[in-house]
Amino acid sequence: MTINIISTGSYAGEKILDNEYFAKIVDTNDEWIQERTGIRTRHICDDITTEEMATRACESALDKLDMDRSKIGLVIFASVSSDTKTPASSFNMAGRLGLNGNPICFDLNAACSGFVYSMAVARSIMASMKIAYAIVIGAERLSKFVDWSDRSTCILFGDGAGCAVLENSDLADDSVSSSLDYRLEIEDTYLAGKYDKKKYLTLDSRDSLKEMRHPFIGMNGRQIYKFATDVGVKVIDRLLESNCISKDDIEFLVPHQANKRIIETLALKSQIPDDRWFVNLDEYGNTSAASIPLALNELVEKVLPDRKLEQIDGRRIISLAFGGGLSYGGFLLKIRKK
Ligand code: UT7
Repeated sequence: MTINIISTGSYAGEKILDNEYFAKIVDTNDEWIQERTGIRTRHICDDITTEEMATRACESALDKLDMDRSKIGLVIFASVSSDTKTPASSFNMAGRLGLNGNPICFDLNAACSGFVYSMAVARSIMASMKIAYAIVIGAERLSKFVDWSDRSTCILFGDGAGCAVLENSDLADDSVSSSLDYRLEIEDTYLAGKYDKKKYLTLDSRDSLKEMRHPFIGMNGRQIYKFATDVGVKVIDRLLESNCISKDDIEFLVPHQANKRIIETLALKSQIPDDRWFVNLDEYGNTSAASIPLALNELVEKVLPDRKLEQIDGRRIISLAFGGGLSYGGFLLKIRKK
């Protein structure tokens, strides 16, 4: 039995803020932002909700499939910026998408690692509870939690949503067809965490008993940078070792899109060439749980179609994330010709 990605989708708002915009509201400039982060623009959704962004991402993924939506038995919604606590956004998504097969629904908060955590949990639930199809969503409207007067954080974040539709090969239905001529088999997952004792990355709940000091995203950038470059390599090593494969088997890496320098450092430390690392943070900035599905969907839509299927058949993709919690982890995909 394998659990496979059979479709992906993403959405980011139409409003785009460039670095010049920030130079007008805080003491910063385009040169600093590009040099230190690699970010040029970010998409902002101030007119639609997190769930609406997620709905558009999911509709685009489901449009690439010919499937009866009642076959979806699991919905996981990863976010730190969902619109409601109950019903959980995952339930609202089931309603919005017309998933009327009584799916298991829950939201998952692992900050920027939320999508990676959700993929691992989905794979495990699909195998143990014999679920045929699932949809895993990462969606964030971080703009509502950004302190627009703090130059060290406001330049970093953007809004967006992405998703993956998963299929359990043992329970696959012949009536379901995907527009992709390959499937992405989830070969392995790895999750870990380390309590953020010193509160390097925080976003307080708005119903805290104590008076809130800072109801916005707070981050000690340098410390998170060190953490990210340390655990990122551990995730790669762990996935390679556990699966007895080498870095030469890796066709692409889809890392959390936080900072171009973090990705360059990871490439250097892991000795995997820069050109295998998929990067789109220049356009979107850091979209937390949405970052990996947004990147994965662009890889599927824009990069994989240019490759000869025979050449990438059997090759691997590693996705890795790190963020608040402190959480980290990754998943290993095998490209399989259908
Ligand atoms: O998604 C969750 C995980 N998050 C991350 O992975 C983010 C990890 N951290 C980072 O990406 C980087 O640490 C940042 C991009 C956030 C900051 O870059 P940095 O090179 O670590 O800068 P820094 O915080 O060490 O600050 C260097 C200087 C400081 O000035 P002084 O103290 O040296 O005079 C800052 O005040 O840069 C200053 N600075 C800025 N200057 C111009 C901070 N933000 C800005 C800014 N424009 N926007």
